[in-house]
Amino acid sequence: MTNLKNRVFSGVQPTGNLHLGNYLGAIKRFVALQESHDCIYCVVDMHAVTTYQDPAELTGNIRSVTAAFLASGIDPEKHIVFNQSQVTQHAELAWLFNCVARMGWLNRMTQFKERAGKNRENASVGLFSYPNLMAADILLYKSDFVPVGEDQKQHLELTRDIAAKFNNDFARRISELGFGDSYFPMTEPLIGGPAARVMNLRDGTRKMSKSEVSDLSRINLTDDRDTIVKKIRKAKTDAEPLPGNVEGLENRAEADNLVGIYAGINDTDKEAVIAEFGGKPFSEFKPALAELAVEKLAPISAKMRDLLAEPEEIDAILCDGADKAREIAVKTMREVREIYGFVGRK
Ligand code: AMP
Ligand code: TRP
Repeated sequence: MTNLKNRVFSGVQPTGNLHLGNYLGAIKRFVALQESHDCIYCVVDMHAVTTYQDPAELTGNIRSVTAAFLASGIDPEKHIVFNQSQVTQHAELAWLFNCVARMGWLNRMTQFKERAGKNRENASVGLFSYPNLMAADILLYKSDFVPVGEDQKQHLELTRDIAAKFNNDFARRISELGFGDSYFPMTEPLIGGPAARVMNLRDGTRKMSKSEVSDLSRINLTDDRDTIVKKIRKAKTDAEPLPGNVEGLENRAEADNLVGIYAGINDTDKEAVIAEFGGKPFSEFKPALAELAVEKLAPISAKMRDLLAEPEEIDAILCDGADKAREIAVKTMREVREIYGFVGRK
């Protein structure tokens, strides 16, 4: 029997180099979910332009994220891979959600505060309302599950608030039209594992991020062997050996991060890593981690390079994916317009 609650959706912004945090917190988990779910993976280019993007660079970044999806093992034949701007219904539903979400809800979004910084007056309106577009991405496909890193938790809660308010505001109409007692599902976030929040290699209190100035702070999916080894060698640690149990990682942000990364790459948990390396010094753990990272990441970056050598093929995959996504999106928007009472052809 097929599982009725089965659709997975997630998105990654094409805004620069993908790093190990994106891979372990998101992409690697996207790959695993393909076995058991119908998956839609989106390169969210309309999110990227909430801050200015050089057009030629944006094109390259859309292709690189797609190449990272494919090189990591996402199958565009069995699932859907596309870039957001090709399916205009995302923007249409986002507008309607601009009218569902309340100013107060968006005012609470911590990512906006971080990204806008001190100069909030000068941030784009899109950067402020971006969580509504994210809710539209998810609900356009009535997605049941959304795998993301820890930093997206608040946006997923907002998505549920928007779905609930929409379902409630239009409850009578939804039922009259035969959609039952709710139209949009209560999407569940899939956040977890040992690497839901991969930290900066130079400062274990900040998350690994594309926007960090120092390249030593992150491992990029395109880094070569020597670079990966060097970055792990230079990763900040304390002077103690690894603890004998997981509790001993508390208040040791850098050690905790490296153990989490090892577990994430190796598909185990921190307990298993501590069972193997507890009591050992970093001079022993770091080379083992570097070897593991190179072994698992080098084939992905090699495959990405091959794929990027043929951009027309990547573009064709995105166009095919967009055709499949659009079929679902058109149907949802037809229904949503009817729920609102807009006039037009069915
Ligand atoms: P972004 O690059 O911001 O579009 O993020 C793409 C995905 O990677 C999202 O699911 C994020 O939650 C996830 N992600 C980004 N940075 C990290 C990190 N440092 N640790 C874990 N997951 C992350
Ligand atoms: N906001 C997400 C990020 O910055 C990217 C994103 C956009 C997304 N739309 C989404 C993630 C829908 C999951 C589902 O990482």
